[in-house]
Amino acid sequence: MISVEGVSKSFGSLRALDGVSFEVRNGEVVGFVGLNGAGKTTTIRIAVGVLPPDSGDVLIDGYSVTREKRRASERVGWVPEIPMFERDFRALDYFAYVAGFYGYSRSEAVELGRELMSRFGLGDAVRRKLGEYSQGMRKRFALALSMIRDPPNFIFDEVLNGLDPQGIAFFRQMAAEFRRAGKAVLFSSHILSEVEEIADRVVFIHRGRIVADMSIDEIRSRVGRDQRALEEFFFKLVGVGQ
Ligand SMILES: Nc1ncnc2c1ncn2[C@@H]1O[C@H](COP(=O)(O)OP(=O)(O)OP(=O)(O)O)[C@@H](O)[C@H]1O
Ligand SMILES: [Mg+2]
Repeated sequence: MISVEGVSKSFGSLRALDGVSFEVRNGEVVGFVGLNGAGKTTTIRIAVGVLPPDSGDVLIDGYSVTREKRRASERVGWVPEIPMFERDFRALDYFAYVAGFYGYSRSEAVELGRELMSRFGLGDAVRRKLGEYSQGMRKRFALALSMIRDPPNFIFDEVLNGLDPQGIAFFRQMAAEFRRAGKAVLFSSHILSEVEEIADRVVFIHRGRIVADMSIDEIRSRVGRDQRALEEFFFKLVGVGQ
């Protein structure tokens, strides 16, 4: 369970987040949608504990990211907007290195690495250097890494960006499995059709404020299944074109 509670954050005179609150319950997949610069990445960085909020807090299964950072962080797997890795590492070695921090022995880590990487279609690329990985391969690799500890919560920032249709299908499948397993999943995306397909609920953010928090059923009952109508609904929410 992820509870974002009244989070505010400024960068200099820019108020990037202004009292952001929403929840992702266990067994729920929530889309996080907003225009460029709306505040998605800032919210996510605060929620995973890499950026401190000015005020407010995020609770991960009840643990505060500001006061119990370690406990909170170890309960959430995340994929950053732009995953960066040591370019000279071979993928499987890097995987094993990271898994080592989580207490896996080298041989266990290598086994898990092979399993997760082939699950994400990287089975043939385990020995390649990360610097040679394409953008989409890096996203797939980041997804595999986020699953190392099988955490109960996941946060994905623009994870669909750069993924090919097969990669998107892997993600869709993964989200459905997480839902069945009772995990809480938050993912930001600009691809409204995929958000509609994957999420149970959508949280809309605009200029650092939550402007709507709606289930997919509610959205469908308002706009139907037409893509154009869905886009217009979104633009109206964020006041674009008015
Ligand atoms: N480190 C920083 N220093 C200064 N301003 C920042 C910093 N990080 C984010 N911002 C500003 O905060 C606002 C929110 O940015 P954020 O990255 O959270 O948006 P976003 O919703 O993730 O956008 P996108 O869809 O483009 O990824 C923007 O105005 C951005 O310029
Ligand atoms: Mg972003």
